[in-house]
Amino acid sequence: MSEPEPWFTLGWSDAGVELLDQRLLPDREEVLVCRSVEEVACAIEDLVVRGAPAIGCTAALGMALAARQAIGLDAAAFGAALDAAHARLAATRPTAINLFWALDRMARTRAALQSEGHDVAATAEALREEALVIVVEDGEICRQLGRAGVELVPDGSRILTHCNAGALATSAYGTALGVVRAAVDAGRRVSVLADETRPFLQGARLTAWEMQRDGIPVSVITDNMAAHLMQQGEVDLIVVGADRVAANGDVANKIGTYGLAVLAHAHDIPFYVAAPISTIDPATATGAEIPIEERGREEVANFGNRPIVPDNVPVRHPAFDVTPARYVTALVTERGVLRDPDGAGIARLLRDTRS
Ligand code: MRU
Repeated sequence: MSEPEPWFTLGWSDAGVELLDQRLLPDREEVLVCRSVEEVACAIEDLVVRGAPAIGCTAALGMALAARQAIGLDAAAFGAALDAAHARLAATRPTAINLFWALDRMARTRAALQSEGHDVAATAEALREEALVIVVEDGEICRQLGRAGVELVPDGSRILTHCNAGALATSAYGTALGVVRAAVDAGRRVSVLADETRPFLQGARLTAWEMQRDGIPVSVITDNMAAHLMQQGEVDLIVVGADRVAANGDVANKIGTYGLAVLAHAHDIPFYVAAPISTIDPATATGAEIPIEERGREEVANFGNRPIVPDNVPVRHPAFDVTPARYVTALVTERGVLRDPDGAGIARLLRDTRS
């Protein structure tokens, strides 16, 4: 088993919600302490913390923080404060379903505690415990998911990945990079090609940093090199994470993922999506209904601190795209590998998970 990551991604302390500030990597490792729900929400919006499961964990901790800060209030005011915190956190990033999944879980916990007649202080403490359970479970689920994916990774695989679906995007271990880590743990010799992932450079800055830390061979490529390397036979498989999987198996993930999936199809390269069950959204019928976050100008119009687009020239910045299910060779979850995911397979997976 690989050791827990030698760094801290997110957590709780007496001071508040603590987040490794991913904007500063790989230059500096600094922990940002969020002391209010507004600070937690801004940290999610500003990509201090990012990646669907990590966003969900952070939102759960944000709700725990809101509850702790509302302990002096009467029951009605406490409920109103938590409703406001829920609404603020839900408004941060629209695509990652784990955000809403975690907020709903915290809301259900709160409703159950209230119906059992717990007072405000006991409810706040129970919400803190629930948030910590979500954080711990997330890491365990990633390890299960990773182990399930090992069968897809032959010895010697050259693995292309996009964005960062690693320990920095979850509470620990990662989804796509969890599969890579588990393959290494199982003795497979692998190497990783990390797409740089314009504009926020999650691949160049974060995936490369994580892989280097683990001693897993990694090379960074710019996004426009992927097609060439596939054509040259230098990619054996692709594994990416997901922000939301629709009921029919369509997958929303970081912008650029769809292009990779089409290229993989053209070159007969397996295209795998690794995501926990909590990333599947049965309420969203198809990818066409997944809300795609549009981010602001700054990340596209600048490279580092340097402007690269003339003033007054508009930019576009959809942060995610949707890969149709037909391009997904298999979906890897903590429940195993679902090949050729489609509506029936996803429904079966969710049914089996509930039973
Ligand atoms: O904008 P980001 O960095 O939050 O986008 C992250 C991704 O697209 C990840 O691939 C996805 O959330 C899965 S993380 C395990």
